[in-house]
Amino acid sequence: MGKQEDRAFAEHYGPVALVTGASSGIGDAFARLLAARGLDLLLVARRRDRLEALAGALHEQYGVRVEVCEADLADPAAVDRIVEAARGLDIGLLVSNAGFGLKGAHQDTAPARMADMLQVNCAAPAQLCQRLIPALVARGRGGIVFTSSVEGLMGMPFSAAYSASKGFVNNLGEALWGELAPQGIDVLTLCPSSTDTEAHALQGIDSSTLEGMMSPEAVAGEALDHLADGPVWIAGEHNRQMFDAMLSMPRRDALFSMADAMRAALKP
Ligand SMILES: NC(=O)c1ccc[n+]([C@@H]2O[C@H](COP(=O)([O-])OP(=O)(O)OC[C@H]3O[C@@H](n4cnc5c(N)ncnc54)[C@H](OP(=O)(O)O)[C@@H]3O)[C@@H](O)[C@H]2O)c1
Repeated sequence: MGKQEDRAFAEHYGPVALVTGASSGIGDAFARLLAARGLDLLLVARRRDRLEALAGALHEQYGVRVEVCEADLADPAAVDRIVEAARGLDIGLLVSNAGFGLKGAHQDTAPARMADMLQVNCAAPAQLCQRLIPALVARGRGGIVFTSSVEGLMGMPFSAAYSASKGFVNNLGEALWGELAPQGIDVLTLCPSSTDTEAHALQGIDSSTLEGMMSPEAVAGEALDHLADGPVWIAGEHNRQMFDAMLSMPRRDALFSMADAMRAALKP
Protein backbone atom coordinates (compact mmCIF):
# COMPACT_ATOMS: atom_id res chain seq x y z
CA MET A 1 0.00 0.00 0.00
CA GLY A 2 1.22 3.50 -0.83
CA LYS A 3 1.31 6.45 1.56
CA GLN A 4 -1.81 7.99 0.00
CA GLU A 5 -3.80 4.75 0.34
CA ASP A 6 -2.60 4.36 3.95
CA ARG A 7 -3.87 7.89 4.67
CA ALA A 8 -7.25 7.13 3.10
CA PHE A 9 -7.47 3.88 5.10
CA ALA A 10 -6.60 5.67 8.36
CA GLU A 11 -9.13 8.41 7.64
CA HIS A 12 -11.87 5.85 7.01
CA TYR A 13 -11.12 3.32 9.76
CA GLY A 14 -9.05 5.37 12.22
CA PRO A 15 -8.00 7.04 14.32
CA VAL A 16 -8.03 4.04 16.70
CA ALA A 17 -8.44 0.30 16.09
CA LEU A 18 -9.29 -2.13 18.89
CA VAL A 19 -7.76 -5.57 18.32
CA THR A 20 -8.60 -8.53 20.56
CA GLY A 21 -6.20 -11.47 20.68
CA ALA A 22 -3.30 -9.19 19.76
CA SER A 23 -0.68 -11.04 21.82
CA SER A 24 0.07 -13.60 19.09
CA GLY A 25 -0.71 -14.98 15.67
CA ILE A 26 -3.28 -13.31 13.44
CA GLY A 27 -4.13 -10.60 16.01
CA ASP A 28 -0.47 -9.64 16.39
CA ALA A 29 -0.27 -9.39 12.58
CA PHE A 30 -3.40 -7.19 12.47
CA ALA A 31 -1.85 -4.87 15.05
CA ARG A 32 1.42 -4.56 13.12
CA LEU A 33 -0.29 -3.93 9.78
CA LEU A 34 -2.71 -1.38 11.25
CA ALA A 35 0.14 0.50 12.95
CA ALA A 36 1.99 0.53 9.63
CA ARG A 37 -1.09 2.18 8.11
CA GLY A 38 -0.94 4.87 10.80
CA LEU A 39 -3.73 3.79 13.18
CA ASP A 40 -3.48 4.14 16.94
CA LEU A 41 -4.36 0.93 18.77
CA LEU A 42 -6.02 -0.56 21.80
CA LEU A 43 -4.70 -4.11 22.18
CA VAL A 44 -6.51 -6.77 24.22
CA ALA A 45 -5.46 -10.23 25.46
CA ARG A 46 -4.52 -11.99 28.69
CA ARG A 47 -0.71 -11.87 28.25
CA ARG A 48 0.02 -8.28 29.24
CA ASP A 49 3.80 -8.71 28.85
CA ARG A 50 3.39 -9.55 25.17
CA LEU A 51 0.94 -6.70 24.59
CA GLU A 52 3.29 -4.20 26.23
CA ALA A 53 6.28 -5.41 24.22
CA LEU A 54 4.26 -5.09 21.00
CA ALA A 55 2.92 -1.67 22.01
CA GLY A 56 6.46 -0.41 22.66
CA ALA A 57 7.77 -1.78 19.36
CA LEU A 58 4.91 -0.30 17.33
CA HIS A 59 5.18 3.11 18.99
CA GLU A 60 8.92 3.12 18.33
CA GLN A 61 8.61 2.03 14.70
CA TYR A 62 5.53 3.95 13.56
CA GLY A 63 5.04 6.68 16.17
CA VAL A 64 1.46 5.51 16.81
CA ARG A 65 -0.18 5.57 20.25
CA VAL A 66 -0.81 2.06 21.56
CA GLU A 67 -2.74 1.24 24.73
CA VAL A 68 -3.13 -2.22 26.19
CA CYS A 69 -5.95 -3.86 28.13
CA GLU A 70 -5.36 -7.15 29.89
CA ALA A 71 -8.61 -9.08 29.82
CA ASP A 72 -9.70 -12.71 29.93
CA LEU A 73 -12.61 -12.95 27.51
CA ALA A 74 -13.75 -16.16 29.19
CA ASP A 75 -14.78 -13.91 32.07
CA PRO A 76 -18.22 -12.41 31.31
CA ALA A 77 -17.08 -9.17 33.02
CA ALA A 78 -14.26 -8.69 30.47
CA VAL A 79 -16.40 -6.82 27.95
CA ASP A 80 -17.15 -4.09 30.53
CA ARG A 81 -13.41 -3.74 31.22
CA ILE A 82 -12.59 -3.40 27.55
CA VAL A 83 -15.36 -0.84 27.01
CA GLU A 84 -13.99 1.08 30.00
CA ALA A 85 -10.47 0.96 28.50
CA ALA A 86 -11.89 2.23 25.21
CA ARG A 87 -13.66 5.19 26.86
CA GLY A 88 -12.47 8.44 25.29
CA LEU A 89 -10.85 6.67 22.32
CA ASP A 90 -12.38 7.26 18.89
CA ILE A 91 -12.57 3.61 17.79
CA GLY A 92 -13.17 3.38 14.04
CA LEU A 93 -12.28 -0.28 13.62
CA LEU A 94 -12.99 -3.29 15.82
CA VAL A 95 -10.96 -6.40 15.03
CA SER A 96 -12.67 -9.12 17.05
CA ASN A 97 -10.06 -11.79 16.64
CA ALA A 98 -9.41 -13.55 19.97
CA GLY A 99 -10.44 -17.16 19.95
CA PHE A 100 -9.32 -20.71 20.44
CA GLY A 101 -10.30 -24.21 19.43
CA LEU A 102 -10.68 -27.64 20.99
CA LYS A 103 -10.10 -30.70 18.86
CA GLY A 104 -11.02 -34.34 19.34
CA ALA A 105 -14.18 -36.38 19.77
CA HIS A 106 -16.95 -34.14 21.11
CA GLN A 107 -17.71 -36.60 23.92
CA ASP A 108 -14.16 -36.14 25.25
CA THR A 109 -14.33 -32.35 25.41
CA ALA A 110 -13.84 -30.99 28.95
CA PRO A 111 -17.08 -29.16 29.84
CA ALA A 112 -15.35 -26.20 31.51
CA ARG A 113 -13.02 -25.64 28.52
CA MET A 114 -16.00 -25.84 26.18
CA ALA A 115 -17.86 -23.23 28.26
CA ASP A 116 -14.82 -20.94 28.13
CA MET A 117 -14.53 -21.42 24.38
CA LEU A 118 -18.15 -20.51 23.77
CA GLN A 119 -17.73 -17.40 25.93
CA VAL A 120 -14.51 -16.30 24.16
CA ASN A 121 -15.51 -17.23 20.60
CA CYS A 122 -19.23 -16.34 20.65
CA ALA A 123 -20.56 -14.32 23.58
CA ALA A 124 -17.64 -11.90 23.89
CA PRO A 125 -17.56 -10.88 20.19
CA ALA A 126 -21.36 -10.46 20.10
CA GLN A 127 -21.37 -8.36 23.28
CA LEU A 128 -18.28 -6.28 22.51
CA CYS A 129 -19.48 -5.23 19.06
CA GLN A 130 -22.95 -4.50 20.47
CA ARG A 131 -21.33 -1.97 22.84
CA LEU A 132 -19.15 -0.34 20.15
CA ILE A 133 -21.63 -0.15 17.27
CA PRO A 134 -23.50 2.97 18.47
CA ALA A 135 -20.33 5.10 18.23
CA LEU A 136 -19.47 3.66 14.82
CA VAL A 137 -22.95 4.43 13.53
CA ALA A 138 -22.78 7.96 14.95
CA ARG A 139 -19.57 8.58 12.97
CA GLY A 140 -21.08 7.07 9.81
CA ARG A 141 -17.87 5.31 8.84
CA GLY A 142 -15.62 2.55 10.12
CA GLY A 143 -15.49 -1.21 10.21
CA ILE A 144 -15.67 -4.46 12.11
CA VAL A 145 -13.61 -7.56 11.34
CA PHE A 146 -14.59 -10.84 12.94
CA THR A 147 -11.92 -13.52 12.73
CA SER A 148 -13.99 -16.62 12.18
CA SER A 149 -12.73 -19.74 10.39
CA VAL A 150 -13.45 -21.89 7.36
CA GLU A 151 -14.77 -24.26 10.04
CA GLY A 152 -17.66 -21.83 10.38
CA LEU A 153 -18.74 -22.64 6.83
CA MET A 154 -19.69 -26.23 7.60
CA GLY A 155 -19.66 -28.63 10.55
CA MET A 156 -16.18 -30.02 11.17
CA PRO A 157 -15.96 -33.55 12.62
CA PHE A 158 -13.63 -33.77 15.65
CA SER A 159 -13.96 -30.02 16.08
CA ALA A 160 -17.70 -29.94 16.66
CA ALA A 161 -18.08 -27.22 19.29
CA TYR A 162 -15.38 -25.01 17.75
CA SER A 163 -16.86 -25.21 14.27
CA ALA A 164 -20.30 -24.50 15.75
CA SER A 165 -18.84 -21.48 17.56
CA LYS A 166 -17.43 -20.18 14.28
CA GLY A 167 -20.78 -20.83 12.58
CA PHE A 168 -22.19 -18.46 15.20
CA VAL A 169 -19.54 -15.88 14.29
CA ASN A 170 -20.28 -16.23 10.58
CA ASN A 171 -23.99 -15.64 11.12
CA LEU A 172 -23.30 -12.76 13.51
CA GLY A 173 -20.99 -11.10 10.99
CA GLU A 174 -23.29 -11.64 8.04
CA ALA A 175 -26.28 -10.28 9.91
CA LEU A 176 -24.35 -7.20 11.00
CA TRP A 177 -23.12 -6.64 7.47
CA GLY A 178 -26.77 -6.47 6.43
CA GLU A 179 -27.58 -4.06 9.27
CA LEU A 180 -24.58 -1.79 9.05
CA ALA A 181 -23.50 -1.63 5.39
CA PRO A 182 -26.19 0.96 4.59
CA GLN A 183 -24.83 3.07 7.47
CA GLY A 184 -21.29 3.20 6.11
CA ILE A 185 -19.82 0.52 8.38
CA ASP A 186 -17.90 -2.29 6.65
CA VAL A 187 -18.30 -5.66 8.34
CA LEU A 188 -16.02 -8.46 7.24
CA THR A 189 -16.17 -12.02 8.53
CA LEU A 190 -12.70 -13.38 7.90
CA CYS A 191 -12.47 -17.14 7.43
CA PRO A 192 -8.87 -18.32 7.61
CA SER A 193 -7.93 -21.92 7.01
CA SER A 194 -4.64 -23.31 8.42
CA THR A 195 -2.50 -20.40 9.53
CA ASP A 196 0.95 -20.65 11.06
CA THR A 197 0.27 -19.58 14.66
CA GLU A 198 0.45 -21.01 18.17
CA ALA A 199 -3.12 -22.30 17.81
CA HIS A 200 -2.23 -25.73 16.38
CA ALA A 201 0.15 -26.72 19.16
CA LEU A 202 -2.43 -25.58 21.72
CA GLN A 203 -4.96 -27.97 20.16
CA GLY A 204 -2.61 -30.96 19.83
CA ILE A 205 -2.50 -30.76 16.04
CA ASP A 206 0.61 -31.88 14.19
CA SER A 207 1.07 -28.89 11.89
CA SER A 208 3.26 -30.93 9.50
CA THR A 209 0.02 -32.63 8.35
CA LEU A 210 -1.48 -29.27 7.32
CA GLU A 211 -1.21 -28.28 3.69
CA GLY A 212 -1.15 -24.78 2.27
CA MET A 213 -0.57 -23.12 5.64
CA MET A 214 -0.68 -19.31 5.37
CA SER A 215 1.31 -16.80 7.39
CA PRO A 216 -0.66 -14.68 9.87
CA GLU A 217 0.57 -11.57 8.02
CA ALA A 218 -0.91 -12.79 4.73
CA VAL A 219 -4.24 -13.61 6.40
CA ALA A 220 -4.56 -10.28 8.21
CA GLY A 221 -3.31 -8.39 5.15
CA GLU A 222 -6.01 -9.91 2.94
CA ALA A 223 -8.66 -8.93 5.48
CA LEU A 224 -7.52 -5.32 5.59
CA ASP A 225 -7.27 -5.14 1.79
CA HIS A 226 -10.79 -6.56 1.45
CA LEU A 227 -12.52 -4.88 4.38
CA ALA A 228 -15.12 -3.41 2.06
CA ASP A 229 -15.67 -6.71 0.22
CA GLY A 230 -17.84 -8.40 2.87
CA PRO A 231 -19.82 -10.08 4.13
CA VAL A 232 -17.40 -13.04 4.16
CA TRP A 233 -13.78 -13.38 3.08
CA ILE A 234 -11.97 -16.73 2.91
CA ALA A 235 -8.23 -16.08 3.20
CA GLY A 236 -6.06 -17.50 0.39
CA GLU A 237 -6.98 -18.25 -3.21
CA HIS A 238 -6.25 -21.98 -2.69
CA ASN A 239 -8.64 -22.04 0.29
CA ARG A 240 -11.34 -20.16 -1.64
CA GLN A 241 -11.14 -22.76 -4.41
CA MET A 242 -11.09 -25.68 -1.98
CA PHE A 243 -14.10 -24.47 -0.01
CA ASP A 244 -16.04 -23.57 -3.15
CA ALA A 245 -15.59 -27.20 -4.19
CA MET A 246 -16.23 -28.60 -0.71
CA LEU A 247 -19.46 -26.64 -0.24
CA SER A 248 -20.81 -27.77 -3.59
CA MET A 249 -20.15 -31.47 -2.81
CA PRO A 250 -22.88 -33.66 -1.34
CA ARG A 251 -22.67 -32.78 2.36
CA ARG A 252 -22.16 -36.40 3.46
CA ASP A 253 -19.11 -36.79 1.20
CA ALA A 254 -17.66 -33.50 2.40
CA LEU A 255 -18.09 -34.48 6.05
CA PHE A 256 -16.52 -37.94 5.56
CA SER A 257 -13.57 -36.36 3.78
CA MET A 258 -13.12 -33.76 6.55
CA ALA A 259 -13.38 -36.47 9.21
CA ASP A 260 -10.59 -38.46 7.51
CA ALA A 261 -8.35 -35.40 7.33
CA MET A 262 -8.95 -34.58 11.00
CA ARG A 263 -8.25 -38.16 12.11
CA ALA A 264 -4.88 -37.96 10.34
CA ALA A 265 -4.05 -34.57 11.87
CA LEU A 266 -5.01 -35.67 15.40
CA LYS A 267 -3.23 -39.05 15.36
CA PRO A 268 -1.25 -39.37 18.62
N1 LIG B 1 -4.42 -20.57 13.18
C1 LIG B 1 -5.37 -21.07 12.40
O1 LIG B 1 -5.12 -22.01 11.63
C2 LIG B 1 -6.74 -20.45 12.42
C3 LIG B 1 -7.64 -20.88 11.42
C4 LIG B 1 -8.92 -20.34 11.43
C5 LIG B 1 -9.29 -19.41 12.37
N2 LIG B 1 -8.41 -19.02 13.35
C6 LIG B 1 -8.87 -18.04 14.33
O2 LIG B 1 -7.96 -16.96 14.35
C7 LIG B 1 -8.08 -16.28 15.60
C8 LIG B 1 -6.68 -16.03 16.13
O3 LIG B 1 -6.06 -17.26 16.40
P1 LIG B 1 -4.53 -17.55 16.07
O4 LIG B 1 -4.47 -18.63 15.06
O5 LIG B 1 -3.83 -16.28 15.79
O6 LIG B 1 -4.06 -18.23 17.44
P2 LIG B 1 -3.10 -17.77 18.60
O7 LIG B 1 -1.76 -17.43 18.07
O8 LIG B 1 -3.23 -18.83 19.63
O9 LIG B 1 -3.78 -16.40 19.11
C9 LIG B 1 -4.98 -16.40 19.83
C10 LIG B 1 -5.17 -15.03 20.45
O10 LIG B 1 -6.42 -15.02 21.16
C11 LIG B 1 -6.17 -14.63 22.49
N3 LIG B 1 -7.03 -15.31 23.43
C12 LIG B 1 -7.27 -16.64 23.53
N4 LIG B 1 -8.04 -16.89 24.59
C13 LIG B 1 -8.30 -15.69 25.17
C14 LIG B 1 -9.02 -15.28 26.31
N5 LIG B 1 -9.62 -16.18 27.13
N6 LIG B 1 -9.10 -13.97 26.62
C15 LIG B 1 -8.47 -13.06 25.84
N7 LIG B 1 -7.77 -13.38 24.74
C16 LIG B 1 -7.67 -14.68 24.42
C17 LIG B 1 -4.70 -15.00 22.77
O11 LIG B 1 -4.15 -14.14 23.77
P3 LIG B 1 -3.75 -14.57 25.25
O12 LIG B 1 -3.40 -16.02 25.24
O13 LIG B 1 -2.60 -13.66 25.57
O14 LIG B 1 -4.96 -14.24 26.05
C18 LIG B 1 -4.07 -14.71 21.42
O15 LIG B 1 -3.72 -13.35 21.33
C19 LIG B 1 -8.93 -17.17 16.50
O16 LIG B 1 -10.24 -16.64 16.56
C20 LIG B 1 -8.91 -18.50 15.78
O17 LIG B 1 -10.07 -19.26 16.06
C21 LIG B 1 -7.14 -19.52 13.38
